[in-house]
Amino acid sequence: MPELAISPMVIEDIDDVRHMQALVWQDHFLKERGQEVPLLYRSRQNLEYYLTKEGNKSFVARLDGTIIGAIICHTWGSIGWFGPLEVLPQYQGQGIGKRLVKAGMEFLDSQGCSVTGLETMVASTRNIGFYTKQGFRPRRSSFVLFKDFSQSCQGKKEGRYEIEAPRKVEEADLEPMKDLWNTIEPGLDYSSEVKSTREHELGDIWIFDGDGEYPNHVILHTYELIDGSMNSIVKLLVAENRDIARRMLEWCEEHSRGLGKKGMFLRFYEGNALTLQDLLDMGFTLTGTLVRMLMKGEDQDTDMVHVSCWSG
Ligand SMILES: CC(C)(COP(=O)(O)OP(=O)(O)OC[C@H]1O[C@@H](n2cnc3c(N)ncnc32)[C@H](O)[C@@H]1OP(=O)(O)O)[C@@H](O)C(=O)NCCC(=O)NCCS
Repeated sequence: MPELAISPMVIEDIDDVRHMQALVWQDHFLKERGQEVPLLYRSRQNLEYYLTKEGNKSFVARLDGTIIGAIICHTWGSIGWFGPLEVLPQYQGQGIGKRLVKAGMEFLDSQGCSVTGLETMVASTRNIGFYTKQGFRPRRSSFVLFKDFSQSCQGKKEGRYEIEAPRKVEEADLEPMKDLWNTIEPGLDYSSEVKSTREHELGDIWIFDGDGEYPNHVILHTYELIDGSMNSIVKLLVAENRDIARRMLEWCEEHSRGLGKKGMFLRFYEGNALTLQDLLDMGFTLTGTLVRMLMKGEDQDTDMVHVSCWSG
C-alpha cells in the first residue's frame, strides 16, 4: 500500500511544488472554465518568500516520497489564513485536501490566531462544498482587478489626480503603521509582509503624506509572481480616504509603467471605504471574484481604505 505523509514544506521542495501547482491549475482551468492554458509556474522567488515569511508554515502531502499536494499558511498577527492549496488531479477526492487543511488549521490555531479562514473562487461550487463540509462559513467577496496599461484610457477624466511622489518607508514609520493596522482589525499585523518585501526584494513600501499624521502606505510588489509575468501587484494599501487612495493607485501605475510593467493587479475584500465601482471608474477590469470563508472569528468593516486579501 503506498503511504501518504503530510510534512512541513522545506526549501528543497520548491521545484517539485511549483511543478505540481502548475499541473493542478492547468487541469482546474480546463475542468472549471473549459480554458486551455499553458503550464504556469509560480516563481522560485514567490515560494521562497512564502516559505521564509515570519509566522508562515506550509505543508506538503507525499505519496511514497512524491509531492502530490501542498498548502501554504500565512499569519498576519492574530489573523491566519491559507492559500494556495492544491492536490494533483489524479489524487483528488481521496481525502488528501482535507488532511492538508487540517494540518494548516492546526498550525494557525497553534499560533493563537483568533480569525482564521481562506478565500476561494466564488464560481467553484465544488470548492465551496469542500470547505463548508469542514465547517468554514462563507462571508463576503474579494475582487481581483487588473489594470491593463496598454489601454490608453486611464479611467474617467475626472479620475486624474495630481500625483505627489511618496517616500520609501523608514523604521520610524513602522510603529504608526502597526497602530493603524490594529485599528482596522484588532491584532492585524502586516510586519512580516514589510520585512519579506525588503528581504526578498519583492518591491517597495511607499508612504504617502496625507492631510494629517496618517501614514498612508502601499506595499507594491514588482517581482515576478508567475515566471515571465510583467505585472505589478498592490499587495497592501491603507489610506485615510478614497481620494488619497486613488492618487496612490495612480502613482503606483505610473511607477509600474516606469519599470516596464504591462499591467497591475489589485485584490481587495469588501467592507472598506473603497468600492468596486471606484476601481472600475479608474479603468480596472474585474478578473475574478472570491468568497472569504471563516473558521474562527468574524470579519470587520472599516471606514478606511484597506486593500488586501487572503489569496496567495
Ligand atoms: C480543492 C482541493 C484541494 C480539494 O482536495 P481533495 O483532495 O480533492 O479533497 P478531499 O478529497 O480531501 O475532500 C473532498 C471532500 O469535499 C467534498 N466535496 C467535493 N465537492 C463537493 C461539493 N460540490 N459539495 C459538497 N461537498 C463536496 C467531498 O464530498 C469530500 O467530502 P467527504 O470526504 O466528507 O465525502 C482539490 O480539489 C484541488 O486541488 N483543486 C484545484 C485547486 C483548488 O481549487 N484549490 C483550492 C483553492 S482555494
